[in-house]
Amino acid sequence: MYSQKVMEHFEHPRNVGEIENASGVGTVGNAKCGDIMRIYLDIDENQIIQDVKFKTFGCGAAVATSSMATELVKGKSIQEAMQVTNKAVMEALDGLPPVKVHCSLLAEEAIHAALWDYANKHDIKIEGLEKPKSDIHEGEEDEEEDY
Ligand code: FES
Repeated sequence: MYSQKVMEHFEHPRNVGEIENASGVGTVGNAKCGDIMRIYLDIDENQIIQDVKFKTFGCGAAVATSSMATELVKGKSIQEAMQVTNKAVMEALDGLPPVKVHCSLLAEEAIHAALWDYANKHDIKIEGLEKPKSDIHEGEEDEEEDY
């Protein structure tokens, strides 16, 4: 049911942990399944993501997608990180079963929430970034119709 990459990231997740005094922290959950994901970003003065860590209290697919999402944004600029959508994360993992698509949305939204926190703290605006939802379950049905 899961690709080898998903299993590999689930068994050996990258970038697990916390960053003290992170530039931005984002926490999102899904009230339906009860899973929660938190992402910490360390962003330097050139707006490059130097480090990223995550904590996920959730299913295996949520762990694998957060692990892959952190790998995809590490070392990238803020604008590049904005391109890391749940679709990009799923592709990098060689796909997810349809019932697990929402887990990858949690990863995208957690990154956006952390970027939002960073932007607020530094009083800047990140193009294309909208205020993230703290519960991605709202509006989820609409998004899943695309897959
Ligand atoms: Fe909810 Fe995976 S089942 S995040």
